[in-house]
Amino acid sequence: MALKLDSIVPWGRNIDEYTEMFLLSDEDLKKRIAGFGDGPASFNYQATMRGYNVTSFDPIYCFSKSQLEARINEVRTVIMKQMSENKENYIWNKIKSLEELESIRMASMMLFLQDYEKGLIEKRYVFHELPDRIDYPDDSFEIGLSSHFLLMYTSLGYDFHIAAISEMLRLCKQVRIFPLCDLDSNASEMIERVIDYFSKKYNVVIRCTDYEFQKDANKLLIINK
Ligand SMILES: C[S@@+](CC[C@H](N)C(=O)[O-])C[C@H]1O[C@@H](n2cnc3c(N)ncnc32)[C@H](O)[C@@H]1O
Repeated sequence: MALKLDSIVPWGRNIDEYTEMFLLSDEDLKKRIAGFGDGPASFNYQATMRGYNVTSFDPIYCFSKSQLEARINEVRTVIMKQMSENKENYIWNKIKSLEELESIRMASMMLFLQDYEKGLIEKRYVFHELPDRIDYPDDSFEIGLSSHFLLMYTSLGYDFHIAAISEMLRLCKQVRIFPLCDLDSNASEMIERVIDYFSKKYNVVIRCTDYEFQKDANKLLIINK
């Protein structure tokens, strides 16, 4: 079924946030990186500007720049209202206020929009929906990232996650997923079962990061093939 514009809620982070969440070293950043569910994050653009090699995959890349821009402006107030109603669920030490949060997120998404059409032509933004097979050979990337998508939306279920992460592991030598909790910051039985499944096949490490905006959402899963 075709994705409907009014069903998407674009909200994107920047390269500093990606670097902190995923514990990306300077060496890591020089590797071929795939971002799954990157949406309107500015990570791809900022990494490209620094000479790095990042390909982003997301179903929202079926929309045009003007459609995404309109949708970003439409949902901005809705998200900020939700954030102000749930302010106590976040830690306001690095990002100090709702106003600062809105300005950081909007700056990221504006950078993404400026870069979007060029990135589509350069195939840095690729329309794709997990867990579908991507038309790239095995081990095309050294690191595959998923920020605030896989494992967070627990309603997608165990089978979805096993299939989605398996496809990421086909394409990437290593997969990093952040954070390891659901949308309400709860650890869930499904997340544990998914980690157990991959622990039996691969080397799996969980690391704490300094990135903790949503309370208790500070753990990173690393799966090495
Ligand atoms: C909360 S946003 C996170 C965006 C970005 N990773 C960040 O942290 O700034 C979740 C993203 O997952 C994408 N997404 C939803 N379903 C997906 C799927 N089946 N496969 C890949 N990405 C998906 C959404 O379109 C959206 O861009």
